Amino acid sequence: MTDVQSTPDSPALENLLHETRTFPPTPAFAAQANVQAEAYERADADRLGFWADNARALLDWQTPFETVLDDSAAPRYGWFTDGRLNAAYNAVDRHVAAGNGDRVAILWEGEDGEQRRITYGELAADVARAANAISALGVGTGDRVAIYLPMIPEAVVALLACARIGAPHSVVFGGFSAEALHSRILDAEAKLVITADGGYRRGGASPLKPAVDDALAKGGTAVEHVLVVRRTGGDVAWTPQRDVWWHDVVPQASAEHEPVWVDAEHPLFILYTSGTTGKPKGIFHTTGGYLTQAAYTHHAVFDLKPETDVYWCTADIGWITGHSYVVYGPLVNGATQVIYEGTPDTPHKGRWWEIVQKYGVTILYTAPTAIRTCMKWGEDIPAGFDLSSLRLLGSVGEPINPEAWMWYRRVIGGDRAPIVDTWWQTETGAIMISPLPGVTATKPGSAQTPLPGVVAEVLDDAGHAVGNGQGGYLALTEPWPSMLRGIWGDEKRFAETYWSRFPGVYFAGDGAKKDEDGDIWLLGRVDDVMNVSGHRLSTTEIESALVSHPWVAEAAVVGAADETTGQAVVAFVILRGGDEAADRPDDDAEVVATLRGHVGQAIGPIAKPRSILVVSELPKTRSGKIMRRLLRDVAENRSVGDVTTLADSGVMSLIQQGLAKPA
Ligand code: WT7
Repeated sequence: MTDVQSTPDSPALENLLHETRTFPPTPAFAAQANVQAEAYERADADRLGFWADNARALLDWQTPFETVLDDSAAPRYGWFTDGRLNAAYNAVDRHVAAGNGDRVAILWEGEDGEQRRITYGELAADVARAANAISALGVGTGDRVAIYLPMIPEAVVALLACARIGAPHSVVFGGFSAEALHSRILDAEAKLVITADGGYRRGGASPLKPAVDDALAKGGTAVEHVLVVRRTGGDVAWTPQRDVWWHDVVPQASAEHEPVWVDAEHPLFILYTSGTTGKPKGIFHTTGGYLTQAAYTHHAVFDLKPETDVYWCTADIGWITGHSYVVYGPLVNGATQVIYEGTPDTPHKGRWWEIVQKYGVTILYTAPTAIRTCMKWGEDIPAGFDLSSLRLLGSVGEPINPEAWMWYRRVIGGDRAPIVDTWWQTETGAIMISPLPGVTATKPGSAQTPLPGVVAEVLDDAGHAVGNGQGGYLALTEPWPSMLRGIWGDEKRFAETYWSRFPGVYFAGDGAKKDEDGDIWLLGRVDDVMNVSGHRLSTTEIESALVSHPWVAEAAVVGAADETTGQAVVAFVILRGGDEAADRPDDDAEVVATLRGHVGQAIGPIAKPRSILVVSELPKTRSGKIMRRLLRDVAENRSVGDVTTLADSGVMSLIQQGLAKPA
């Protein structure tokens, strides 16, 4: 661990921790809540028994398990290892078998206004057809399938079809570039790619298939087929034999399909996320433990009543939140849920609230960045819609500042709906720290308490648990069912990244503080990982994208505080002289625009720096390490902190003078 992004002791965060407002659940909410305070006692008394009970109660097992936790190869823990099950069967078929085939699973709304309503019975048939179709394309149990789709029902069907045949899926967010897609397809050695011609975003059709074509043209992949959903009807380039239309093979396939029963530890999916180096990590999750905790947390934290609730998680399927709280958690629990394809401001800034009103959404799960954006647009907009159906609100992805929390509660939740601020990660697979809505008196800005069955501590540098009122590093000190099982193809990095900072304990990479009541406050990453709009970006990955451009000699990237997105990417670059500079415009603004576009191509539009500053030097320590802390001071318009460890203490004034000069 290196240069600290935000230290647990930073004074700016101090005021957060003096939050004294609390909001206990109303007696009416508490009385009807799915999970009561006894759950903590039950789990404390017998943690493994608690998870085993939930695994049995929430899932159908083809072969029941007897072993709960296998720690013989720690940190590669195994859960429910001698049990066998199928994730797609648990998500759909068993609801049909239980007589709930007519219940609506998905209320889908396209950005263009198209609507589809899909029952569990219909979803079961669609998943079985898609499973038959992808088997016919040569995908077998254990083969990997890359999925690059917009938020359309076929995305849910595609994930579940893979799960049904035991082919781990690797979903790549549609906002990632061809290059990013290529490296993920290569790393997972995917055999099939499932994509669409495009999707609707910001009022227009946005193509996806060209990125798949470009990715595969880069070569080296094991891809045999590309299965293409027609969504926008836009023109697509076609590679005969390789490319297959979804509508040519899926609807025709049989709706009879025997699920492949897999071991609980069979890999369910790989999901790439940024780490502290340039190469994204393929986090992989297995079947039994992941489903158990996704379902339990969805039941406990969102208090889902499958017969009456209308649940809506706004996350894209390309992120872990979409995996656990759009696909697996809600479907395993038999929820009726809204899925919306597009952006919140298309065609107008009230689109989300219109959807809440139209479908009578009762549970809404979204990210602080979305809440802050709505705050900026003004409360008149949500006030124009009837939001009285909402009974529970959730937040995820980054710390939620108390001001946004209070706004969310008052304006969206009508001062009535409890807010659950849920802390977790791609690696944890499911929610780990969160209030329980019928039990916890919530506090604006704090995720508060590890869930029943989860053990979290705040540790000091030496690995000792800190007392109340103190800060340190968040660690998970006992294994949990939905924990990552590794980094795909890189066991060493798995051990080093998560299990070596505090031996035997999972290091989350977040700073945290315990307040006087012992509640946990998350304070942001302590490594070179940024969090922009709840999405994880690596400083190193963006730096390598920048230096891969011929004009750039050196680059340093920092996450600077941003009112809306939490953090924003700010880059400092030193340009090359000599031949490489020959075709470079003199105007810095043009250089900056080109470099932003270059990062967009290398990684994806989400990684484009908010600003790029051209400088002549970068602040380095005597050992040559860039001092990002000082660059953050510049990016956040603060006076520059302690420069005594710089090799050349004049560098910072040089940078500041350079930036002060009129453009
Ligand atoms: C990182 C994980 C979990 C799904 C979305 C992000 C930050 C996440 C919270 C929260 C404070 C949070 C952490 C974490 N984070 N939720 N409620 N309060 N910080 O998943 O991309 O794997 O990122 O997001 O820094 O380490 P991810």
